[in-house]
Amino acid sequence: MNNINYLCGIDIGTGGAKIILVNAESGKIDFSVTKFYDLHTPKPLWAEQEPTDWWGAVCEGLQELTSKIDKNNIKAVGLTGQMHSSVFLDKNNNSIREAILWCDQRTAEECEILTSKIGKEKLVKITCNPMLTGFTAPKIEWLKRNEKENFEKIKKILLPKDYIRFLLTGEYATDVSDASGMGLFDVPKRCFSKEILSACGYDRDWFGESFESSSVTGTVTKEASEKTGLPEGIPVIAGGGDNAASAIGNTIVEEGKVFNSIGTSGVVFAYADKPILDPKLRTHTFCHAVPGKWHIMGVMLSAGGSLKWYKDTFCDIEKYSAEKEACDVYDILNKKASQIPIGCEGLTFLPYLSGERCPYPDPYARGCFFGMTLKHTRDHFTRSVFEGISFGLNDSFDILKEMKVPIKQAVATGGGARSDFWKQMLADITGIPHATVENDEGPSYGAALLAGVGCGIYSSVIEASKQNKIVSLKEPKAENTKLYQAPMKIYKALYPKVESLFKEI
Ligand code: XUL
Repeated sequence: MNNINYLCGIDIGTGGAKIILVNAESGKIDFSVTKFYDLHTPKPLWAEQEPTDWWGAVCEGLQELTSKIDKNNIKAVGLTGQMHSSVFLDKNNNSIREAILWCDQRTAEECEILTSKIGKEKLVKITCNPMLTGFTAPKIEWLKRNEKENFEKIKKILLPKDYIRFLLTGEYATDVSDASGMGLFDVPKRCFSKEILSACGYDRDWFGESFESSSVTGTVTKEASEKTGLPEGIPVIAGGGDNAASAIGNTIVEEGKVFNSIGTSGVVFAYADKPILDPKLRTHTFCHAVPGKWHIMGVMLSAGGSLKWYKDTFCDIEKYSAEKEACDVYDILNKKASQIPIGCEGLTFLPYLSGERCPYPDPYARGCFFGMTLKHTRDHFTRSVFEGISFGLNDSFDILKEMKVPIKQAVATGGGARSDFWKQMLADITGIPHATVENDEGPSYGAALLAGVGCGIYSSVIEASKQNKIVSLKEPKAENTKLYQAPMKIYKALYPKVESLFKEI
């Protein structure tokens, strides 16, 4: 047993920290643990977390895992996590205030201010994206305008996984895929942009050095080894933002491949050889975790989050049945939704419960049920939530098609991908086959594979990605694709018609 090589993947998610140990030879996940922490919403549409809670969860989870094995078999650590969220550190490396998260929508004004300081054309040319409320730069600007005292204490600004890296290694560093989402990064050139930083008035020293995702950024210190149980001196690899890391785990390392993820957010992620842009800027163009490559990504803010909200708010009866039948409440919702006809007999759901990002960068957008009649039952509402989320994801597929990004196959991933019913719906609506992979841990699995490249076990990121395999495929059913066209047309027409009213709310 002593010659097993384990690769450790750590994912600082929004719900909790997931830590896995991958057996480098078999490519399988031998051990996994998730430790949860709270999300705070001090005001509507605000979202914050305490960075020390992430560290507490990481230490607890690692102690648990390292007590189960000979810890000297762990060869390297790879990091990933929620993108964009801002950790502000003072001169003693203490967190100044709670981190402002990727899904927080407080910074609409700051986006306008930064865009006019930089100039829209220059901003888009260098960062490949508009300034969006989720990104990191407007959070810094918000601090400057609203918490001056805190702003003046800033010594470092780190992304979530990079804060954990600092505590593991003592190094301030990031990787190109995660740094792409800060609104401060030169995405074509894969480095921080001096021009953008100086237009914003931000100090280059606030940010760590940026690395390609499979590079070694430091080693586990004695102090971190004592707190986590990880062996002292093993390499900690740059890793990637949760989506880029997930893409490595989900085999999205060549043209034609896309993943479609339903977690709290919904993400459609396409591999790209070059940093190409949607001329209407509805999707993001970021660096990939494959060295020298990029990706195009559409992000919905409330995908699985909408279904969870619906379940928590309206589904006490289903929760009761699930308890009685000792099954998962989501299985009951899937079953009930599957008994309602495609299109929900005219009921449509808009899933913009936290505002929206792609295809509508609109912090004021809201959720809606539209088209109710006396005929509609709760099960119609249930199906319309599944359909609304899927139509929202399909909007990103449509943009990719408009951009002529080749799409041969999508890998379905995230919690939503565990539902066969939902995978078939996604295949039918998009017209693209949806595959399932053997190891569906997404970001943490990709981070562990990147760690394997960094410590020399795998020869390249593309080689590492081959550890995962496609195990099943849902082909689109042409008759269903046809039936979805009419309800999809109503879905697409709705937002532009009510957009101005959202602002009034
Ligand atoms: C990506 C994004 C989300 C978070 C969630 O741009 O905002 O996918 O990374 O973890």
